[in-house]
Amino acid sequence: MNFNFTHRPRRLRNNPILRSLISENSLRHSDFVLPVFISEQALEPEPIPSMPEIFRWPLGLLVPQIKKWRDLGISSFAIFPQIDDSKKDLTGSEFLNPSSLTFRAALEIKSVISDVALISDIALDPYTIHGHDGILDSTGNIDNDPTVETLAKGAVLAAKSGYDLVAPSDMMDGRIKIIRNELENNNFPNIGIISYSAKYSSSYYGPFREAIGSRGDTCLDKSTYQLSTANFREAKRELLLDFQEGADILMVKPAEPCMDIIHYARNNFDVPIAAYQVSGEYSRIWAAHLQGWLDLESCAMESILSIKRAGADIIFTYFTEKLIQQI
Ligand code: PBG
Repeated sequence: MNFNFTHRPRRLRNNPILRSLISENSLRHSDFVLPVFISEQALEPEPIPSMPEIFRWPLGLLVPQIKKWRDLGISSFAIFPQIDDSKKDLTGSEFLNPSSLTFRAALEIKSVISDVALISDIALDPYTIHGHDGILDSTGNIDNDPTVETLAKGAVLAAKSGYDLVAPSDMMDGRIKIIRNELENNNFPNIGIISYSAKYSSSYYGPFREAIGSRGDTCLDKSTYQLSTANFREAKRELLLDFQEGADILMVKPAEPCMDIIHYARNNFDVPIAAYQVSGEYSRIWAAHLQGWLDLESCAMESILSIKRAGADIIFTYFTEKLIQQI
Protein backbone atom coordinates (compact mmCIF):
# COMPACT_ATOMS: atom_id res chain seq x y z
CA MET A 1 0.00 0.00 0.00
CA ASN A 2 1.02 3.61 -0.55
CA PHE A 3 -0.37 6.87 0.88
CA ASN A 4 0.85 9.04 -2.03
CA PHE A 5 2.85 11.33 0.25
CA THR A 6 4.38 14.28 -1.63
CA HIS A 7 7.19 14.59 0.85
CA ARG A 8 9.30 11.60 1.77
CA PRO A 9 12.65 12.90 3.07
CA ARG A 10 13.80 9.30 3.28
CA ARG A 11 14.10 9.23 -0.55
CA LEU A 12 17.41 11.01 -0.17
CA ARG A 13 18.68 8.58 2.43
CA ASN A 14 18.20 5.48 0.32
CA ASN A 15 21.83 4.50 -0.12
CA PRO A 16 25.30 5.63 0.92
CA ILE A 17 25.95 7.49 -2.33
CA LEU A 18 22.82 9.59 -2.04
CA ARG A 19 23.53 10.17 1.63
CA SER A 20 26.98 11.46 0.84
CA LEU A 21 25.60 13.58 -2.03
CA ILE A 22 23.39 15.45 0.42
CA SER A 23 25.97 15.70 3.19
CA GLU A 24 26.05 19.26 4.52
CA ASN A 25 29.19 19.09 6.61
CA SER A 26 32.36 17.10 6.46
CA LEU A 27 35.66 17.08 8.26
CA ARG A 28 38.97 17.96 6.64
CA HIS A 29 42.43 17.31 8.00
CA SER A 30 43.01 21.04 8.25
CA ASP A 31 40.03 21.49 10.61
CA PHE A 32 41.95 19.89 13.46
CA VAL A 33 44.34 21.18 16.08
CA LEU A 34 45.98 18.62 18.35
CA PRO A 35 46.72 19.82 21.90
CA VAL A 36 50.10 18.41 22.97
CA PHE A 37 51.35 18.13 26.54
CA ILE A 38 55.08 18.42 27.08
CA SER A 39 56.96 17.71 30.26
CA GLU A 40 60.20 18.79 31.81
CA GLN A 41 60.58 15.78 34.12
CA ALA A 42 59.42 12.93 31.89
CA LEU A 43 61.98 10.68 30.24
CA GLU A 44 59.40 8.47 28.54
CA PRO A 45 55.97 9.48 27.22
CA GLU A 46 53.95 9.66 30.47
CA PRO A 47 50.36 8.46 30.37
CA ILE A 48 47.72 10.76 31.89
CA PRO A 49 45.37 8.50 33.87
CA SER A 50 42.21 10.51 33.21
CA MET A 51 42.97 10.87 29.48
CA PRO A 52 43.53 7.45 27.87
CA GLU A 53 45.98 7.41 24.93
CA ILE A 54 47.20 10.94 25.72
CA PHE A 55 50.74 11.42 27.00
CA ARG A 56 53.07 14.06 28.33
CA TRP A 57 56.00 14.14 25.94
CA PRO A 58 59.58 14.72 27.01
CA LEU A 59 61.34 17.29 24.87
CA GLY A 60 63.80 14.67 23.65
CA LEU A 61 61.02 12.68 21.96
CA LEU A 62 58.89 15.57 20.78
CA VAL A 63 60.40 16.24 17.36
CA PRO A 64 60.12 12.64 16.08
CA GLN A 65 56.58 12.45 17.48
CA ILE A 66 55.52 15.69 15.73
CA LYS A 67 56.98 14.22 12.51
CA LYS A 68 54.85 11.08 12.98
CA TRP A 69 51.73 13.16 13.52
CA ARG A 70 52.54 15.35 10.54
CA ASP A 71 52.90 12.25 8.38
CA LEU A 72 49.41 11.19 9.52
CA GLY A 73 48.10 14.52 8.23
CA ILE A 74 48.02 16.61 11.41
CA SER A 75 49.58 20.00 10.84
CA SER A 76 48.54 22.25 13.73
CA PHE A 77 49.56 21.75 17.34
CA ALA A 78 48.74 23.63 20.54
CA ILE A 79 51.55 23.14 23.04
CA PHE A 80 50.90 22.94 26.82
CA PRO A 81 53.80 22.59 29.27
CA GLN A 82 54.12 20.77 32.56
CA ILE A 83 57.04 22.48 34.23
CA ASP A 84 59.02 21.40 37.24
CA ASP A 85 57.25 22.29 40.51
CA SER A 86 60.41 23.97 41.76
CA LYS A 87 60.05 26.58 38.99
CA LYS A 88 56.53 27.62 39.99
CA ASP A 89 55.95 30.74 42.04
CA LEU A 90 53.22 33.23 42.93
CA THR A 91 53.64 35.34 39.80
CA GLY A 92 54.41 32.65 37.22
CA SER A 93 57.81 34.19 36.49
CA GLU A 94 59.06 31.12 34.58
CA PHE A 95 56.71 32.17 31.77
CA LEU A 96 59.09 35.05 31.05
CA ASN A 97 62.19 32.85 30.95
CA PRO A 98 63.15 32.79 27.24
CA SER A 99 64.47 29.26 27.64
CA SER A 100 61.48 27.86 29.51
CA LEU A 101 60.10 24.54 28.31
CA THR A 102 57.40 25.89 26.03
CA PHE A 103 59.76 28.18 24.14
CA ARG A 104 62.49 25.54 23.82
CA ALA A 105 59.91 23.16 22.37
CA ALA A 106 59.00 25.52 19.53
CA LEU A 107 62.65 26.34 18.79
CA GLU A 108 63.47 22.62 18.53
CA ILE A 109 60.46 21.73 16.41
CA LYS A 110 60.83 24.64 14.03
CA SER A 111 64.56 24.06 13.55
CA VAL A 112 63.73 20.65 12.05
CA ILE A 113 60.13 20.78 10.78
CA SER A 114 58.88 23.78 8.86
CA ASP A 115 55.50 22.58 7.61
CA VAL A 116 53.56 22.60 10.87
CA ALA A 117 51.77 25.42 12.67
CA LEU A 118 52.48 25.86 16.37
CA ILE A 119 50.10 27.57 18.77
CA SER A 120 51.40 28.89 22.08
CA ASP A 121 49.16 28.95 25.13
CA ILE A 122 49.32 32.36 26.79
CA ALA A 123 48.29 32.03 30.44
CA LEU A 124 50.08 31.69 33.75
CA ASP A 125 48.46 28.55 35.19
CA PRO A 126 51.26 26.13 34.24
CA TYR A 127 53.69 28.47 36.05
CA THR A 128 51.90 29.52 39.24
CA ILE A 129 51.90 27.64 42.55
CA HIS A 130 48.20 28.32 43.03
CA GLY A 131 47.15 27.18 39.54
CA HIS A 132 45.39 30.41 38.61
CA ASP A 133 45.85 31.94 35.16
CA GLY A 134 47.06 35.26 36.54
CA ILE A 135 48.89 37.02 39.33
CA LEU A 136 47.21 36.92 42.75
CA ASP A 137 47.18 40.17 44.69
CA SER A 138 47.29 40.43 48.48
CA THR A 139 43.51 40.30 48.76
CA GLY A 140 43.27 37.02 46.85
CA ASN A 141 42.11 38.61 43.61
CA ILE A 142 43.63 37.96 40.23
CA ASP A 143 45.31 41.27 39.41
CA ASN A 144 44.20 42.01 35.86
CA ASP A 145 46.58 44.60 34.44
CA PRO A 146 49.92 43.30 35.77
CA THR A 147 48.84 39.88 34.46
CA VAL A 148 48.12 41.35 31.04
CA GLU A 149 51.54 43.01 31.01
CA THR A 150 53.22 39.65 31.71
CA LEU A 151 51.11 37.85 29.12
CA ALA A 152 52.04 40.38 26.43
CA LYS A 153 55.76 39.96 27.16
CA GLY A 154 55.35 36.18 27.02
CA ALA A 155 53.56 36.46 23.68
CA VAL A 156 56.62 38.19 22.24
CA LEU A 157 58.86 35.39 23.57
CA ALA A 158 56.52 32.87 21.95
CA ALA A 159 56.77 34.70 18.62
CA LYS A 160 60.58 34.80 18.92
CA SER A 161 60.66 31.05 19.55
CA GLY A 162 58.84 30.27 16.33
CA TYR A 163 55.19 30.00 17.32
CA ASP A 164 52.85 30.92 14.47
CA LEU A 165 49.91 31.93 16.63
CA VAL A 166 49.57 32.98 20.25
CA ALA A 167 46.49 31.84 22.13
CA PRO A 168 45.60 33.77 25.29
CA SER A 169 43.52 31.37 27.39
CA ASP A 170 43.47 33.49 30.55
CA MET A 171 40.28 35.59 30.18
CA MET A 172 41.82 38.79 31.59
CA ASP A 173 40.21 42.04 30.42
CA GLY A 174 41.92 43.96 27.63
CA ARG A 175 44.65 41.44 26.98
CA ILE A 176 44.11 41.15 23.24
CA LYS A 177 44.71 44.87 22.75
CA ILE A 178 47.91 44.86 24.80
CA ILE A 179 49.24 41.63 23.26
CA ARG A 180 48.53 42.99 19.76
CA ASN A 181 50.40 46.23 20.58
CA GLU A 182 53.33 44.39 22.08
CA LEU A 183 53.64 42.09 19.04
CA GLU A 184 53.46 45.06 16.65
CA ASN A 185 56.00 47.07 18.66
CA ASN A 186 58.41 44.15 18.72
CA ASN A 187 58.22 43.64 14.99
CA PHE A 188 55.94 40.61 14.92
CA PRO A 189 53.10 42.10 12.85
CA ASN A 190 52.36 38.75 11.23
CA ILE A 191 51.92 36.66 14.35
CA GLY A 192 48.19 36.10 14.77
CA ILE A 193 46.14 35.92 17.93
CA ILE A 194 43.70 33.09 18.48
CA SER A 195 41.77 34.29 21.45
CA TYR A 196 39.94 32.14 23.99
CA SER A 197 37.16 34.72 23.92
CA ALA A 198 34.17 32.89 25.33
CA LYS A 199 35.81 30.60 27.83
CA TYR A 200 33.45 29.23 30.43
CA SER A 201 34.27 28.31 33.99
CA SER A 202 33.83 24.62 33.29
CA SER A 203 34.27 21.50 35.39
CA TYR A 204 35.36 19.69 32.24
CA TYR A 205 38.89 21.12 32.57
CA GLY A 206 39.75 18.70 35.40
CA PRO A 207 41.78 16.15 33.40
CA PHE A 208 43.75 18.95 31.71
CA ARG A 209 44.76 20.33 35.08
CA GLU A 210 46.03 16.89 36.02
CA ALA A 211 47.93 16.74 32.72
CA ILE A 212 49.85 19.98 33.25
CA GLY A 213 50.31 19.23 36.95
CA SER A 214 48.41 22.35 37.92
CA ARG A 215 47.67 22.48 41.62
CA GLY A 216 44.19 23.63 40.79
CA ASP A 217 42.17 20.48 40.67
CA THR A 218 38.63 20.21 39.33
CA CYS A 219 37.42 22.43 42.13
CA LEU A 220 39.72 25.43 41.60
CA ASP A 221 37.32 28.31 41.16
CA LYS A 222 38.17 30.54 38.19
CA SER A 223 34.80 32.26 38.09
CA THR A 224 36.16 35.78 38.65
CA TYR A 225 37.57 35.60 35.13
CA GLN A 226 35.90 32.72 33.27
CA LEU A 227 32.24 32.88 32.21
CA SER A 228 29.25 31.43 34.02
CA THR A 229 27.46 28.57 32.27
CA ALA A 230 24.21 30.45 32.89
CA ASN A 231 25.20 33.34 30.61
CA PHE A 232 24.89 33.98 26.90
CA ARG A 233 24.90 37.80 26.62
CA GLU A 234 28.12 37.99 28.58
CA ALA A 235 29.78 35.70 26.01
CA LYS A 236 28.53 37.96 23.20
CA ARG A 237 30.21 40.90 24.88
CA GLU A 238 33.51 39.04 25.33
CA LEU A 239 33.52 37.93 21.68
CA LEU A 240 32.86 41.49 20.51
CA LEU A 241 35.59 42.98 22.70
CA ASP A 242 38.22 40.50 21.51
CA PHE A 243 37.18 41.07 17.90
CA GLN A 244 37.47 44.83 18.35
CA GLU A 245 40.80 44.54 20.13
CA GLY A 246 42.23 42.67 17.15
CA ALA A 247 41.85 38.92 17.67
CA ASP A 248 42.38 37.09 14.37
CA ILE A 249 40.48 33.97 15.42
CA LEU A 250 37.80 33.76 18.12
CA MET A 251 37.55 30.65 20.24
CA VAL A 252 34.69 29.16 22.24
CA LYS A 253 35.42 26.70 25.03
CA PRO A 254 34.29 24.09 26.03
CA ALA A 255 32.69 22.97 22.77
CA GLU A 256 29.69 20.66 23.13
CA PRO A 257 28.24 22.50 26.16
CA CYS A 258 28.52 25.75 24.14
CA MET A 259 27.00 24.94 20.75
CA ASP A 260 24.78 28.02 20.98
CA ILE A 261 27.80 30.26 21.49
CA ILE A 262 29.72 28.64 18.61
CA HIS A 263 26.71 29.16 16.36
CA TYR A 264 26.34 32.77 17.43
CA ALA A 265 30.04 33.48 16.92
CA ARG A 266 30.02 31.95 13.43
CA ASN A 267 27.01 34.04 12.38
CA ASN A 268 28.18 37.33 13.81
CA PHE A 269 31.92 37.66 13.20
CA ASP A 270 33.68 37.29 9.87
CA VAL A 271 36.83 35.76 11.29
CA PRO A 272 37.52 32.05 11.71
CA ILE A 273 35.80 30.52 14.72
CA ALA A 274 37.55 27.86 16.77
CA ALA A 275 36.03 25.52 19.34
CA TYR A 276 37.99 23.58 21.96
CA GLN A 277 36.65 20.15 22.79
CA VAL A 278 38.23 20.06 26.23
CA SER A 279 39.78 17.30 28.27
CA GLY A 280 36.61 16.36 30.18
CA GLU A 281 34.61 16.11 26.95
CA TYR A 282 37.24 13.64 25.74
CA SER A 283 37.40 11.73 29.01
CA ARG A 284 33.65 11.30 29.40
CA ILE A 285 33.37 9.55 26.04
CA TRP A 286 36.37 7.39 26.90
CA ALA A 287 35.00 6.55 30.34
CA ALA A 288 31.66 5.42 28.93
CA HIS A 289 33.51 3.39 26.31
CA LEU A 290 35.62 1.68 28.98
CA GLN A 291 32.40 0.74 30.79
CA GLY A 292 31.16 -0.83 27.57
CA TRP A 293 28.35 1.72 27.36
CA LEU A 294 29.31 3.79 24.30
CA ASP A 295 31.25 3.15 21.13
CA LEU A 296 34.40 5.26 21.25
CA GLU A 297 35.05 6.04 17.60
CA SER A 298 31.50 6.73 16.51
CA CYS A 299 30.80 8.92 19.55
CA ALA A 300 34.04 10.81 18.98
CA MET A 301 33.13 11.36 15.33
CA GLU A 302 29.59 12.40 16.22
CA SER A 303 30.83 14.93 18.75
CA ILE A 304 33.27 16.56 16.32
CA LEU A 305 30.88 16.65 13.39
CA SER A 306 28.25 18.27 15.64
CA ILE A 307 30.74 20.93 16.72
CA LYS A 308 31.49 21.58 13.04
CA ARG A 309 27.78 21.80 12.24
CA ALA A 310 27.31 24.32 15.05
CA GLY A 311 29.75 26.56 13.15
CA ALA A 312 33.32 25.84 14.20
CA ASP A 313 35.90 26.24 11.44
CA ILE A 314 38.74 24.95 13.60
CA ILE A 315 38.44 22.27 16.28
CA PHE A 316 40.93 21.63 19.06
CA THR A 317 40.45 18.01 20.10
CA TYR A 318 42.40 15.21 21.78
CA PHE A 319 40.63 12.85 19.35
CA THR A 320 42.58 14.35 16.42
CA GLU A 321 44.91 11.39 15.92
CA LYS A 322 42.07 8.86 16.10
CA LEU A 323 39.70 10.75 13.80
CA ILE A 324 42.10 11.99 11.21
CA GLN A 325 42.74 8.41 10.18
CA GLN A 326 39.03 7.94 9.42
CA ILE A 327 38.60 10.92 7.07
C1 PBG B 1 44.21 27.40 31.30
C2 PBG B 1 43.68 26.41 30.35
C3 PBG B 1 42.78 25.40 30.68
C4 PBG B 1 42.56 24.66 29.53
C5 PBG B 1 43.32 25.21 28.50
N1 PBG B 1 44.01 26.31 29.02
C6 PBG B 1 42.19 25.05 32.00
C7 PBG B 1 41.64 26.07 32.86
O1 PBG B 1 41.18 27.13 32.41
O2 PBG B 1 41.65 25.83 34.06
C8 PBG B 1 41.64 23.48 29.48
C9 PBG B 1 41.78 22.58 28.33
C10 PBG B 1 41.18 21.24 28.54
O3 PBG B 1 40.47 20.97 29.53
O4 PBG B 1 41.41 20.40 27.67
N2 PBG B 1 44.85 28.46 30.79
